[in-house]
Amino acid sequence: MEKKIVIITGASGGFGKEFTKRFIEAGYHVVATVRNEAKKPVVLEGLSPEEAEHVSIALLDVADKESVTGFGRYLLALERVDVLINNAGFAVAGFAEELTDEEYLYQFETNFFGVMRVTNLVLPIMRNQKEGRIINISSISGLIGFPGLSPYASSKYALEGYSESLRLELRESGIDVTLVEPGSFQTNIWSTGTYMSEKAGKDDSPYHELFTNMNKRLQKDQETYGDPKEVADLVVKIAVRKKSPTLRYTVGNGVKLSLLAKKLLPWKAWERIVLNQLRKKE
Ligand SMILES: NC(=O)c1ccc[n+]([C@@H]2O[C@H](COP(=O)([O-])OP(=O)(O)OC[C@H]3O[C@@H](n4cnc5c(N)ncnc54)[C@H](OP(=O)(O)O)[C@@H]3O)[C@@H](O)[C@H]2O)c1
Repeated sequence: MEKKIVIITGASGGFGKEFTKRFIEAGYHVVATVRNEAKKPVVLEGLSPEEAEHVSIALLDVADKESVTGFGRYLLALERVDVLINNAGFAVAGFAEELTDEEYLYQFETNFFGVMRVTNLVLPIMRNQKEGRIINISSISGLIGFPGLSPYASSKYALEGYSESLRLELRESGIDVTLVEPGSFQTNIWSTGTYMSEKAGKDDSPYHELFTNMNKRLQKDQETYGDPKEVADLVVKIAVRKKSPTLRYTVGNGVKLSLLAKKLLPWKAWERIVLNQLRKKE
C-alpha cells in the first residue's frame, strides 16, 4: 500500500521540523513546506538519508496568494492528502494602543488567512477521498488573551472560531478538524518568530514599565518552556492513533490549570492574577 501523506506548513523550524521527523517515523510521506529555497536544507538537517527519502519539500508562503496558488499546482501531482497540519505562524507583539491596522493585518495574513487558504486548497482532495484530518496549531493565546500580544491572540482566537465552524460544516464528510493548544515551548517563535512593534518599550510609552518587566520574565522563564517533542507526540497521536479526534487538545505546563482557572474564577480575580504575575519584578 502507498504511504499516507501529510502536509506540514512552516516546516523549517520549531514544531514543524519536529512534526516532520515524527511523521516519517510513523510511516508517512511528508510534504514539508518552507517559505524560500534557502530554508530547504534546514528540513533535512538531523534526518538520515533513508528518512530524507520520505520527505518532499515544497515552497509555500501562506501569507502570499501567488505562493499559495503555486502550491495548489504542486498539489495536483499528489495522489491524496491524509493529514494537513496548519502549523506556519509567528507572533506580532506590542500594545494594542500603539499598533497599526497594518500590523494586525500582517499577523492575520499568516496566522488566520494563511490557514484558510491552504485548507481550501486541500479540502477538495480530502472530500474526493471522503476522509482526512486537518490539525490547526492554535495556542493557549487562542483561549486566553495576554497583554502585549493582542495581534497574536486575536489571530489565534479567529482561528478557534474558524476551526469550530469548519468542523461542524465537515461533520458528515469524513474530514476531522482539530485544534492543538500549546502553552510555551522552546522554538524560534520567541526570537526570529516574533515581530515587535516599534513603539513597544520606548521610554515615553505608558507601557514602558510593564514591557520591561514582561521581557525580564520572558528571559527568565524561557528555560522552563517545554520540549517541542511533546507537541509532536500529541499531533502524531491525533493524526495516527485517535479513532475519532475531538475538537481541542491542550499541551504544555500549566495550560490545563490556567484554562480551568479562567473558566472558574470571576473575571476580576483572574485578571488580578495575570497582571500580578506580569508586573512582578524579578
Ligand atoms: N512555541 C510555542 O511556544 C508555541 C505556543 C503555541 C502555539 N505555537 C504555534 O506553533 C506554530 C509553530 O511555531 P513555532 O513555535 O514552531 O515557531 P518557529 O520555530 O518560529 O516556526 C514557525 C514556522 O512557521 C514558518 N512561517 C512563518 N510565517 C510563515 C508564512 N507566512 N508562510 C509559511 N511559513 C511561515 C516559519 O518559517 P521561517 O523559518 O521562514 O520563518 C517557521 O518554519 C505557530 O502557529 C505558533 O503560533 C507555538
